[in-house]
Amino acid sequence: MAAPKKLYIKTYGCQMNVYDSERMAEAMGSAGYVETEDPAEADMILLNTCHIREKAAEKVYSELGRFRALKDEKPDLKIGVAGCVAQAEGAEIMRRQPLVDLVVGPQSYHRLPQMEAQVRAGQKALDTDFPLEDKFDTLRHRPKARRGPTAFLTVQEGCDKFCAFCVVPYTRGAEVSRPAARVLEEARDLVERGVREITLLGQNVNAYHGAGAGGDWSLARLIWALSDIDGLERIRFTTSHPNDMDDDLIAAHGACAKLMPYLHLPVQSGSDRILKRMNRKHTAEGYLRLIERIRAARPDILISGDFIVGFPEETEADFQATLDLIEAVGYGQAFSFKYSTRPGTPAAERPQVAEAVKSERLHRLQALITRQQRAVQETMVGRTVGVLFERPGRMPGQMVGKSDHLHAVHVTGSGLGVGDLARVEIVESGPNSLGGRIVAA
Ligand code: SAH
Ligand code: SF4
Ligand code: F3S
Repeated sequence: MAAPKKLYIKTYGCQMNVYDSERMAEAMGSAGYVETEDPAEADMILLNTCHIREKAAEKVYSELGRFRALKDEKPDLKIGVAGCVAQAEGAEIMRRQPLVDLVVGPQSYHRLPQMEAQVRAGQKALDTDFPLEDKFDTLRHRPKARRGPTAFLTVQEGCDKFCAFCVVPYTRGAEVSRPAARVLEEARDLVERGVREITLLGQNVNAYHGAGAGGDWSLARLIWALSDIDGLERIRFTTSHPNDMDDDLIAAHGACAKLMPYLHLPVQSGSDRILKRMNRKHTAEGYLRLIERIRAARPDILISGDFIVGFPEETEADFQATLDLIEAVGYGQAFSFKYSTRPGTPAAERPQVAEAVKSERLHRLQALITRQQRAVQETMVGRTVGVLFERPGRMPGQMVGKSDHLHAVHVTGSGLGVGDLARVEIVESGPNSLGGRIVAA
């Protein structure tokens, strides 16, 4: 038997790309490939790319340039570009970087083995279709290998919201939900392989409406069905849109013990004028009311968000409204970005904010967020929370895991191992993590 060929995958961007990279590795497994961590020994290199901001997209080209030496040494090496840059730029990638043999968009990963055969035969391969067949039907996971305690599971893909700044509706296509039975089957399989926590993924995961028994299921209904799986201890989901947070999902946060008290709910701006120009279809006040209702269902829920500063035409007063909203919410975690002009999106055509102004606003916003994150983390001291241990820490006998609220927690001398879930009393709050002691395993 021939020695297996080696595949090196580098993943950029969001968690869905992480999930997709796993699926691509599995699809390529059926074409005789095993994964390697070392690009120098690879027979094929795949970059799974992100197009969300200009910097992310440019990174791909500089990374590709670095593979020239490898390809000179090993002419049989094949180089592929997958993900959102592949979808957005298509054949342009091969024109700009002739090293590239293969370009595959996110909806065509199930066709990778055929495309691999094509590039082996010396041709270039390009597929950025939005095919009618469901890629997940053919991209079957291998149910044998053991896994770590946490896993992602894509339940919904694509976006119909068309926020004025965002490329995702173009790179991932229209919103599609996977049938509930498929999701449940994949979840059971993951649990049999050692997974105890599943994060459900979707660009608009709370818009989930997959076919199920008795008609379309909402995300809440799916979560309740998942919570019946023995051995699955924790359920999370990301990313949600404020307008799709329905009553059942809010209620599940109060009633479903396996649904973790953490919600990533991006708002982007606190100014109604900017929200309107962003095409977000909600107001700052509407968002604050929603947070109130979610906190009424689950008072200790940790809220996380995304913010864009320097969106076209953002004034100092608009920015101040964002800071006010942040003050009012009290975020436990937040991701913030300078607006990045994306060709083809409506906001790209609007009057832009100067780079120096964006930088200065980002700096102020991040200082506020950092203070809030620390404050929220401090409130954990003295509380007892669940922790799922994911890896040994740097100190002897130390284990590191994530709390229910997604804080990193370290515990020393517990005798517990990877995949163990314990009740932990939080005794200290450090710069990047919490320290705790085991109360009950
Ligand atoms: N589907 C998710 C996430 C989309 S991308 C959602 O609706 O929230 C993740 C984050 O990137 C966004 O929430 C937004 O804050 C940021 N982002 C998207 N496009 C951007 C752009 N053109 N410039 C800067 N940040 C952007
Ligand atoms: Fe992009 Fe808006 Fe869709 Fe999120 S909801 S993926 S920010 S268009
Ligand atoms: Fe990036 Fe595509 Fe995800 S643009 S954030 S990899 S959906």
